[in-house]
Amino acid sequence: MKKIYLIILIISMNCQVFSQINIIPKPTSIVEKKGYFIVGKKITINVIADDKSIIDIVNPLLNKFSEKCKDGFFKSNFNSLSKSDNIVFQLDNNLLNLGDEGYKLSITTKKIHVLAYKKAGLFYALQSLRQLIPLETKEIKIPCVEIIDIPKFQWRGLLLDCGRHFMDKAFVKRYIDLLSYYKMNRLHWHLTEDQGWRIEIKKYPKLTEIGAWRTEADGSRYGGFYTQDDIREVVAYAATKFVTVVPEIEMPGHSVAAIASYPSLSCTGKELNVETQWGVFKDIYCAGNDSTFVFIKNVLTEVMALFPSKYIHIGGDEAPKFRWERCDKCQQRIKANGLKGEHELQSWFIGQIDDFLAQHGRKLIGWDEILEGGLSKGATVQSWRGMEGAVAAARSGHDAIVSPTSHAYFDYDIANINMEKVYNFNPLPQELSIEESIHILGGECNLWSEHASQEKVDERVFPRILAMSEVLWTYPQKRDYESFRARVQQHYPVLNAMGVTYGFERDPLMIKTKADYQKREISAILEKTQQGTDIYFSTNGKKADRTSTLYTNPIIAKDSLKLNITILAKGSETGIYYEREFKLHKATGKIPQLKNPYSKSYPAQGENSLTDGIMGTNAFRDGNWQGFEGDDMVVVIDMGAATSFSHISCGFLQSTPSWIFFPPQAEYFVSKNGIDFVSVGVVKSPESPKNVELSVNRYKIDLPERNQYQYIKIVAKNMGICPDWHPGAGGKAWIFADEITVE
Ligand code: ACM
Ligand code: ZN
Repeated sequence: MKKIYLIILIISMNCQVFSQINIIPKPTSIVEKKGYFIVGKKITINVIADDKSIIDIVNPLLNKFSEKCKDGFFKSNFNSLSKSDNIVFQLDNNLLNLGDEGYKLSITTKKIHVLAYKKAGLFYALQSLRQLIPLETKEIKIPCVEIIDIPKFQWRGLLLDCGRHFMDKAFVKRYIDLLSYYKMNRLHWHLTEDQGWRIEIKKYPKLTEIGAWRTEADGSRYGGFYTQDDIREVVAYAATKFVTVVPEIEMPGHSVAAIASYPSLSCTGKELNVETQWGVFKDIYCAGNDSTFVFIKNVLTEVMALFPSKYIHIGGDEAPKFRWERCDKCQQRIKANGLKGEHELQSWFIGQIDDFLAQHGRKLIGWDEILEGGLSKGATVQSWRGMEGAVAAARSGHDAIVSPTSHAYFDYDIANINMEKVYNFNPLPQELSIEESIHILGGECNLWSEHASQEKVDERVFPRILAMSEVLWTYPQKRDYESFRARVQQHYPVLNAMGVTYGFERDPLMIKTKADYQKREISAILEKTQQGTDIYFSTNGKKADRTSTLYTNPIIAKDSLKLNITILAKGSETGIYYEREFKLHKATGKIPQLKNPYSKSYPAQGENSLTDGIMGTNAFRDGNWQGFEGDDMVVVIDMGAATSFSHISCGFLQSTPSWIFFPPQAEYFVSKNGIDFVSVGVVKSPESPKNVELSVNRYKIDLPERNQYQYIKIVAKNMGICPDWHPGAGGKAWIFADEITVE
């Protein structure tokens, strides 16, 4: 008996360890067979299809093999199967059940046979085949396998924001290659932004003469655009890789670059510069002005001539209504059309464009804000502020694409969205019925480029996009992350060969602190989460690099500790940098009670973040700043026993382009019983909210140490909404706080 068990165990271990099928996205069905198809001296590739252009799909394979099979190979003349063929690519009209993109791939020791219903299926079979061919071996040995593969979702995309940072044409084409290798089929090309208009429009030359360029704070000029020839080239190239390029032309918001080019497009008609700050801006297209629609329709006419995509994305997100509320023409439009306010005006705006696109046989996509004020009849919704937009769209019979900030925002740090999180993403909202779910066309990962110029795009997109590709193509019912991760490891050499400078799979560093208040000792424990990396740190305030101290043991300090850390993959100088400041104080480790909850988008370290001893840096997404949206921050700390202290402080961050303001005031209270609080001081904002520079300030009060108190309360006022002069006027303002210190 024992022997039998042992044999079974060994066999199953063998299967796990030695599987040579590392295809990503994982095919729907894989049956591994014994043996290899070995590319010998003579290969006969037969393409069985009426369509001769299939040769273009197969050609890269021939080129790859021709390096090895010196005696050449033969292409068939599109005849039927013959016995001597050893590689066959075949279209079969009967294989309707494979759909437009599915395929069957059978590899035996004698023959490779690919079957598909449509050309795209042959193309995807070829991508699987490419992934089965070993990277560098003397002999091309392809493992025998039977694969049937049909994608779950028809829409599998990546958004590239070429507005904030321009990405050159070659780079965009390279991304098309990379997408198609992982069976992604939509490039969502974000072409217009506040900070740059990137597409040549012949009728409006100033869009690229003026709108494509911005003057940075240091006086330098930044910009670029794609000519119509460039666009045609990219679109045609993408078609050969079965990637549809979906252009996004933003309206009515995110249009400062267009307004800078043609000021009459806005409500005020005032001259503006192309934006240099990141954020959301109140100057948007005037919805009351007929000439705005003449402009937009002319632009879209040229866009439709360049992009054969059925879908045209018109943005629709983050359009503050501040100008419309104060514009006579916009108000007149509301009245004339019997609309209830500015949200319905936005719906009316989108409806005009929806009708226009429909008249030209196209379909409109907009971000989920287009639901507010009523969804236009032909619209498809791209849900980004969670999945709610997709649910609402599907329930009202509209199609939806999902790319929520929680899982699909690849501009977010790896600490916020790691590869495992992406892998566990479910594009189908659970609350939808099966019929409603049919409206979920698929998903996208979004690469917004405020903080990712072209050189940084790879490290944000890879390897996370491998997870998204598998979620969207395979939609594995059981998500076995470890087995997926094992396959990802096999892709790194391939990505290296393709020149992809991929980033980490997860936050490569875990920082833990231990505080011993009696000994006044603080220790920092740094743990690597990825093999093949080294941690370096400095305590002198200097940015860490390979010449800094190599971390081996916990770092122990008295009272406070300032650390600059970098984690570097071996052999690489591009790492992730961390700055952490730890401070031991009397409230360290106490649990703060919050009257208004912190925002789920900026939770920092969660419920005791405000007293965890970790100070924020001047990066508001560093994971140490807790955000409060629209509400005051009201905190009570129970010190556990009557305690004497002479200082209380709380750190706040201001970054007004991101709608984060210093509290206009913070008031501090103390109490012996937790019921009766007395005010012990008020601190006012040290900085004008008009200062656009990011700054951090500790609001500190001193009090005589004579009395002892058990409770401390802080009430930090929120501005509530962004003021009239602010680009986000009327939108909810934020407070960001890092740590309340008690000493
Ligand atoms: C978005 O991220 N504003 C769609
Ligand atoms: Zn207006």
